[in-house]
Amino acid sequence: MKITLSLIKADIGSIGGHIKPSEKVIQRVKDFVSQSKFVIDSHVFHTGDDIAILLSHTFGPDNPKIHKLAWDAFMEGTKIAKEQGLYGAGQDLLKDSFAGNVRGAGPAVAEMEFEERPAEPFLVFLADKTNPGAYNLFFYLAFADPFYNSGLILSPEIGRGFKFVIVDVKYKRGDRIIELFTPEDIYDIAVLLRETGRYSIEAIFTKEGEQCVSVSTTRLHNIAGTYTGKDDPVAIVRVQKNFPATGEVLAPFKIAPFVDGFMRGAHIGPLMPVKLNSSISYFDGPPIVSCAALCVHNGRFTEMVDVFDHPFWDFVRFKAAQKAIDIREQGFFGNAMLSMEELEYGGIVKRLEKLAPKFKIRKKRK
Ligand code: F6R
Ligand code: MG
Ligand code: MG
Repeated sequence: MKITLSLIKADIGSIGGHIKPSEKVIQRVKDFVSQSKFVIDSHVFHTGDDIAILLSHTFGPDNPKIHKLAWDAFMEGTKIAKEQGLYGAGQDLLKDSFAGNVRGAGPAVAEMEFEERPAEPFLVFLADKTNPGAYNLFFYLAFADPFYNSGLILSPEIGRGFKFVIVDVKYKRGDRIIELFTPEDIYDIAVLLRETGRYSIEAIFTKEGEQCVSVSTTRLHNIAGTYTGKDDPVAIVRVQKNFPATGEVLAPFKIAPFVDGFMRGAHIGPLMPVKLNSSISYFDGPPIVSCAALCVHNGRFTEMVDVFDHPFWDFVRFKAAQKAIDIREQGFFGNAMLSMEELEYGGIVKRLEKLAPKFKIRKKRK
């Protein structure tokens, strides 16, 4: 059976700052989605201040009916958020009305259409206080580096390599994308993926053309023209058999790498793997990622496993907390904050503009 998974997320308001949506808002979104007659199954998650709706259906990606369902669910949730006086109610719904697709309207979208395998395991990732480029390292290591994923040399199937679709998220006049292949193009892939603020993995396919990864690559900044929160990316990854195993995809997450985001989307912080439905705390962070593992069969979801809810990850969380404390020790200095080109908050840019006329060119000494 050919099915589509749609994962659509938005920040529509939270309690006590940009921390966590209220139970009432989450319940409203759940109720609204579950009364739909045309989706096969659904699930609603939250991570940090974001709510994500996972839908299975047969309408393909970018379907107006599906996108409208998510948009309307977020609108309904926003009504409750406003009633409760939550902070940033409706924050990511950047357009006044729905125009056929939530892409370009604020919510982040990861979608994939495929022929269901007899057993179809997959992972759902939800990150908060960071940008889509945060996934670059993990998916590069899991799909292209045998040092991290020895399955690439052990399994003839996944050893054939993959096609990476990488998007230039700073380009505003359309989708500027490039397709590169592993293992032959890995150095070119690395050159792009190191630039996390500009290039993001959007999708990964087998060389036979079967999609196994879809990442949301929305740039709120491109839509709103100003800082309205980091892009807090979601991703779907199909696993096992002809794709890397669940554990191979999870392995690189033990790095807790430094990513863009954290407080005011203006800093560098370690990406901490957390349990599903975790909230935000220290310095509006640290940047977090959660992951649910489940199967879909005839479009229906099994119960899910919270993969970072395991003693192993307590150690990684401890390491991430230590890294967060270490980098915060240098405040605004040097690499603790984003570079000028990456800063989305107006303050520093405005200050520099104000200072510009005060600069003088010193006369050459005779
Ligand atoms: C980062 C984030 C927060 C806010 C910060 C200031 O993505 O959501 O760190 O940027 O709390 O928020 P405002 O400007 O709404 O007071
Ligand atoms: Mg968020
Ligand atoms: Mg937010």
